[in-house]
Amino acid sequence: MKCRVCAGNAVISEPRLCREHLTSHVQKEVRRIIRWVKPEKLLVAVSGGKDSAALAHALAETGVQFEMLYIDLGIDGYSSPSKEAAARLAKRLGGRLHTVRPPTPVPELKQRKEPVCSLCGTVKRYVMNRFAFENGFDYVATGHNMDDVAAITAIGIASGNAFNFKLSPVSWPRKEHRMAGRIKPLYRISEKEILAYALVHGLPVHHAECPLSENNTQLAAKQLLSGLPGFKRGLYRLAAKMGREGKRELFECRECSYPTTASSRICKFCRLSRER
Ligand code: AMP
Ligand code: FES
Ligand code: ZN
Ligand code: ZN
Repeated sequence: MKCRVCAGNAVISEPRLCREHLTSHVQKEVRRIIRWVKPEKLLVAVSGGKDSAALAHALAETGVQFEMLYIDLGIDGYSSPSKEAAARLAKRLGGRLHTVRPPTPVPELKQRKEPVCSLCGTVKRYVMNRFAFENGFDYVATGHNMDDVAAITAIGIASGNAFNFKLSPVSWPRKEHRMAGRIKPLYRISEKEILAYALVHGLPVHHAECPLSENNTQLAAKQLLSGLPGFKRGLYRLAAKMGREGKRELFECRECSYPTTASSRICKFCRLSRER
């Protein structure tokens, strides 16, 4: 199989690209987002997985300065190898890695009515934002890829809640609401491309699935969409549009002062901590 650009050996079939052209394709996209938002102080959320490893590597290769954050969710048999992978990545890139351990380990959230993965998502977003805000980072970058965005959009539509504001590739900082900006530089890159990128660059990655993600809707949606590439592309285009078009009202959480959309004015993170 030949690279569509240079006829060298392709390392991926869709699109057919060699190591060099896959690398420039991913890095060009990352550069595009960085030039668009021009972060002054960037924090990259690294999970130990391939997406955020590829993101950090691409940023470093592009000459962007950043620090990294690993959130230790306290999941037995999973968090510690993920943390090790994140530490090896930081060492390889010569970057600074911060670690935060939220007060409630994620497995303890399992008893609640909502799926644990969705509560875990709340905790991760809260910790990323608060850490960034308190430490003067104007943007947090995550490794969300095209497949993630398409799957989350499909779930949103299926549940009648298509306007998911967490999906746009860029959300600008809103200092008055104690909100750092968020960027998803790999938003237009597929999971297969990222996996190939991580492999050809030999990035330290913990490949296992989270043990709590059994019956995870997002994983199921991803599997379904993997057989429908055209539909998947349409969904992620729709996500970009939705992210641009809507903004929900934000209030200040009465307990922690960080933003919330809840009319009760107690953010979900504080509610979860309170129900412990
Ligand atoms: P996920 O929520 O697992 O789909 O991950 C999406 C993105 O969130 C990853 O690519 C990372 O950038 C970030 N992320 C996920 N888990 C963690 C973690 N434990 N610590 C820091 N960042 C994370
Ligand atoms: Fe959050 Fe598995 S990483 S539930
Ligand atoms: Zn090539
Ligand atoms: Zn709060």
